[in-house]
Amino acid sequence: MAEGFSVPTSRRSFLGISAAASAALALRIVTEPMLAHAARHLIHEGVMIDANENPLGPCAAARQAIVDIAPQGGRYSDWLSVDLVNQLAELEGLRPEYVRIYPGSSEPLHHAVAAFTSHQRSYVTADPGYEAGMFAAKAVKARLVKVPLTKAYAHDVRAMLAAAPDAGLFYVCTPNNPTGTLTSHSDIEFLVANKPKDSVAMVDEAYIHFSDAPSAMDLVRADKDVLVLRTFSKIYGMAGLRCGAVFGRPDLIEKIEDYGGWNFMPITALVAASASLKDAQLVPERKRINAEIRSGVFAWLDRNGYSYVPSHSNCFMLDTKRDGKEVIDAMAAQHVHIGRIWPVWPTCVRITVGTANEMEQFQAALKKVMTGAVTASVAHPHHWRNGRKGELPLLAS
Ligand SMILES: Cc1ncc(COP(=O)(O)O)c(C=O)c1O
Repeated sequence: MAEGFSVPTSRRSFLGISAAASAALALRIVTEPMLAHAARHLIHEGVMIDANENPLGPCAAARQAIVDIAPQGGRYSDWLSVDLVNQLAELEGLRPEYVRIYPGSSEPLHHAVAAFTSHQRSYVTADPGYEAGMFAAKAVKARLVKVPLTKAYAHDVRAMLAAAPDAGLFYVCTPNNPTGTLTSHSDIEFLVANKPKDSVAMVDEAYIHFSDAPSAMDLVRADKDVLVLRTFSKIYGMAGLRCGAVFGRPDLIEKIEDYGGWNFMPITALVAASASLKDAQLVPERKRINAEIRSGVFAWLDRNGYSYVPSHSNCFMLDTKRDGKEVIDAMAAQHVHIGRIWPVWPTCVRITVGTANEMEQFQAALKKVMTGAVTASVAHPHHWRNGRKGELPLLAS
């Protein structure tokens, strides 16, 4: 550890990584914007409801905190990391050793997959499910086990257990990305109680604040083999500022750290996250706004006879009953950028809940596209927003 840096949790040397970990450092991290924008057209104007971003952005207190800290931008200000770790630990009833912060939750997600899966230990996830961990599993040559959701669109924990006696890591995303559906706490407990020895359950709670679902943090407090991921990218509207965290038993956290260690966080992200946590109105207010807009869209879809999966999150799956990619293209030609498809459900497209005005534009465009009033007329160039070309390879099951 760099001398003088005092994140209270880190016991490993900054440079002290294992041979296995250093081999896996070549791991390319795949994130939601990469997955979303791989299917986004070159035009970046219009309604962007394809990447589960929060159109509200950071709250007022977070914006002010960024302005106030800007003059200190020339310094590392490492104590701000300590402050945020302590703040999160206190909020969750954990000791600081159980918490690590990162520039977003993508890093701990990938590093945990690298740490707990291997050629011998499989990665088990839901289908459709958030794909990022699948790329990490592929990079470390772990067997990828994709288990269909139940009829109620929950993770089928019993089938996940049955499918992988060799499991190294079970990934449970609740609310699930892309469906916004929940997996019950009792099912997560069942998974943890029945999983193979030495395997880990990682519960991704990126969207939990949009729902009424109970957190799995109690299982971390009980010292189970459980990791919980949280991010400031969703309800807190800080996707571009980058702040996330992993919570878990210190020995599990140390294994994750082998794959990326820690680095200084941007101080803007630290103070914005801290201010957001202190804003007692933020979560209830934004949860209400999202739920109201979402139920308005669902009511409209119902009235117009469209099929969708009811969601507890800021995204949902719309069944277009035709090739979803064609609908994505046709919507993009209307300047409404909707989310990608999952190969297991090729007629479904993921829609992010935007502002009320954005969802009105979505509805108008969808009606035109679905009634055949318009069709796709743009090329599908598969460019990254930052100009990098190339499509992410599809993952075979
Ligand atoms: C389920 C899930 N987990 C983790 C992430 C990672 O987000 P970030 O790296 O912005 O914290 C995302 C991003 O959309 C997500 O959907």
